[in-house]
Amino acid sequence: MDPVHEDFFAGGAGEERTLRANEAAYERLRIVPRVLRATGDRDLRLTLFGTELATPVLVAPTAFHKLAHPDGEAATARGAAGAGTVMVVSMAATQPIEEIAAAGGPLWFQLYPQSDLAFTAAVIKRAEAAGCRALVVTVDSPVFGRRERDLRNGFLDLPDGLACENLRDAEGKVRSIEMDATLGWDRIAWLRGTTGLPILLKGVLHPADARLAVEHGVDGLIVSNHGGRQLDGAVATVDALPRVVDAVGGRIPVLVDGGIRRGVDVLVALALGADAVLVGRPVVWGLAAGGAPGVLKKLRDLTGELDHAMALAGAKRLADLTPDLVVA
Ligand code: FNR
Repeated sequence: MDPVHEDFFAGGAGEERTLRANEAAYERLRIVPRVLRATGDRDLRLTLFGTELATPVLVAPTAFHKLAHPDGEAATARGAAGAGTVMVVSMAATQPIEEIAAAGGPLWFQLYPQSDLAFTAAVIKRAEAAGCRALVVTVDSPVFGRRERDLRNGFLDLPDGLACENLRDAEGKVRSIEMDATLGWDRIAWLRGTTGLPILLKGVLHPADARLAVEHGVDGLIVSNHGGRQLDGAVATVDALPRVVDAVGGRIPVLVDGGIRRGVDVLVALALGADAVLVGRPVVWGLAAGGAPGVLKKLRDLTGELDHAMALAGAKRLADLTPDLVVA
């Protein structure tokens, strides 16, 4: 990979404190296993918004997959479909959603709401028509994160020939993604009236926002700090998770992403109350190393490690993963 693009994928905002904190938090948390409890095979299946998944490890939305591999997002989608999981397609995908959907697996679409409401509605309609089953609205990006590696490298835009294919307007021109600092709860209400798809908010860390989300009829939350790429200094996601789970009180699903690198990390996140997790960079590295089979291998490895860890921790199904299994 071009080292400039590798920096784009690997890097975070500012001093990368939050980027490091996401992973370090999992290294700090320890599992207290149960014994003599789980007999026979484990069952890792779950249902989210009507979609049956073979694993609680989903693919987080990440931009510009054609910079990682020429097969782009369609290859990621094939890998996710093979693993029996959902791919969340980034609004900054470098292939049209229709081509990504041709891989056949379940897709959700990630949206940065644009201030042009008609254009935003058109993007959503296109994702719906392509078969996307949920809308993931990213709310941690009122302004763009200050990614110092990209600033140093002068990485500002996609190379010639690549574009954000899902941002074409009626004239076929590609618009640039706008981070809209005027985004507020009123816009979530507008989105609710614009689409019948389940709406998840991605980038919630504060329990007060989790309560507001439930009050506004949001269908799910993703506890996320954008992989440390937005607010440097933001809390590690697994540290924010328990209070969000508590505030939601089981009313809607809570997912988490950031720093999950091994099956034991998935186990800890689920034990602390997440219904499922998403992985960003590990999928990008799998894609870069091996295209669709590389993505599939990464997702299978994480799921296999989770299965193994559950066996050793005395958990037969995801519901057996409870907070008492984790200590700081
Ligand atoms: C992201 N992320 C992201 N999120 C989003 O809502 N829309 C996007 O377009 C992107 N793009 C993006 C690009 C790259 C290169 C990275 C690394 C991340 C954030 C992503 O969905 C997720 O929150 C983090 O990647 C999770 O952290 P890990 O798994 O990468 O540690």
